[in-house]
Amino acid sequence: MNKKSDPIAVIDSGMGGITVLRKLYRLMPNENFIYFGDSANAPYGVKTTDEIRELTVDGVEMLMGMGAKAIVIACNTATSAAAAGLREKYPGYPIVGLEPAVKPAALSMEQPIVLVLATPLTLREKKYLKLVERFEGEATFIPLPAPELVRFIESGNLDSKEEIEYLEKILGPYTGNKVDAVVLGCTHFPFARRQIQRILGDEVLVFEGGKGAARQCKRLLENADLLAEEDQQGRIQFMNSDESKIELCKKMFFYKG
Ligand code: DGL
Repeated sequence: MNKKSDPIAVIDSGMGGITVLRKLYRLMPNENFIYFGDSANAPYGVKTTDEIRELTVDGVEMLMGMGAKAIVIACNTATSAAAAGLREKYPGYPIVGLEPAVKPAALSMEQPIVLVLATPLTLREKKYLKLVERFEGEATFIPLPAPELVRFIESGNLDSKEEIEYLEKILGPYTGNKVDAVVLGCTHFPFARRQIQRILGDEVLVFEGGKGAARQCKRLLENADLLAEEDQQGRIQFMNSDESKIELCKKMFFYKG
């Protein structure tokens, strides 16, 4: 039986979920969090679905074993591969996933052209294809896989010359008002949000899923009467399958992008 004082566990292939952790911590500062980044196995987005499912299930079950009262799969790729199976295996356990913010982007204006930046896996999985199908009448979607961006961000060398050159190359065809909105459909990408906005232009709306996932997590905990007491100040424990990355995780948490 989980208790109010138990931690919320947040899992990602590496650094990306920290962009979601920041939203969670801002919304629920009384909660304790465990952040697990699987940097030893990152990037996930270029692996097979089976490989990602196995890595995600192992990570989630480890965190459940540590007494997590809720799990946030702070990774679009891992959510596509493993969330449905985990919810089936653990009915009633609060499990929050991430999905590209296609809905708010599609509904943000009349018939927008929406660029969806994500990993190759997210863009080929059923979950995304079904999501896009729902809003096809409302918007035009352009999927754009950006696997290299994950590697740049994973290295912690943010805004590097190589990262900027890569972004300019892949986003080049969409500059000059060719798109109305961009969805950051990978939790690593908000670390490059400023550069993406600069290249595409100020008029382009940028959407990410972290805030929605944080709200959903709070709702699930409220419904289960598991929100932490308000007199406690929350703490964050960082874990990583590559221990040499733990300091970098802490630094990334405080990155002002
Ligand atoms: N952060 C992950 C996501 O949201 C994927 C990054 C990776 O490829 O490992 O999709």
